[in-house]
Amino acid sequence: MEMLVVANWKMNPRTIEEARQIYTEIKRQVQKSNAEVVIAAPYPFIAELAKGKNSIANGAQDVSSEPMGPYTGEASASMLKSIGVSYVIVGHSERRARGESDVFVAKKTGLALKFGLQPIICVGERERDQSGKYFGFVENQIRSAFQGISGGKIASCVIAYEPIWAISTSTPGARPATADDAHEMVLFIRKVLTDLYGRSHASKVRILYGGSVSDKNIESLVAGSGAQGFLVGGASLRPREFGSIVKASYVR
Ligand code: PGA
Repeated sequence: MEMLVVANWKMNPRTIEEARQIYTEIKRQVQKSNAEVVIAAPYPFIAELAKGKNSIANGAQDVSSEPMGPYTGEASASMLKSIGVSYVIVGHSERRARGESDVFVAKKTGLALKFGLQPIICVGERERDQSGKYFGFVENQIRSAFQGISGGKIASCVIAYEPIWAISTSTPGARPATADDAHEMVLFIRKVLTDLYGRSHASKVRILYGGSVSDKNIESLVAGSGAQGFLVGGASLRPREFGSIVKASYVR
């Protein structure tokens, strides 16, 4: 399975000019990589950046939980699809922190699939406890997001495990998960999917790790996390560093 590296720009940069610059430089950096690269830019920049042919896939950072209608400020799955978006991040912890519940995440996942977008479903605990309750927390997030999704569709889904304590821009003093921390959770998520859908379907879902991924820890994460790719926030706005992360991301 090819690795998937997703740039989550969040609400950055400030202008379309800056966005174009960063995008062009990333395009140059990732030219000869072995990974599939997605840039999830803010809504107002996506259509402009998506112009012209290139190997970077277009992502969005969110999608509406409704197909169309009176939902001021939202963007629907069909709108995103029509401007060339192929992946959408759903249930990012920064959106959950602003009130997005598991019910919304499930609706967004269903609509993304219906309109031919690949959902990148974010899960992850706020903190870890000695007794391992965080496994149950992540399991519930997954079971809820996949409610109503059939086994035949899950190959189009991606899960991003992003422990909130490891996200550089959300948590002051965040530290990345170790490759072992991530590995344990990647195995656990695979097991949850296997319980839900059986081994053959479950093995087709890419599981990413996200949280302070940088050019410093990427080698150890690729070697030891067992993840099929990475969701990168802060470092994805630094083209050279993002380029190094992408180049290091191939199946060893
Ligand atoms: P980070 O963000 O790489 O800056 O920790 C990751 C994310 O929130 O997707």
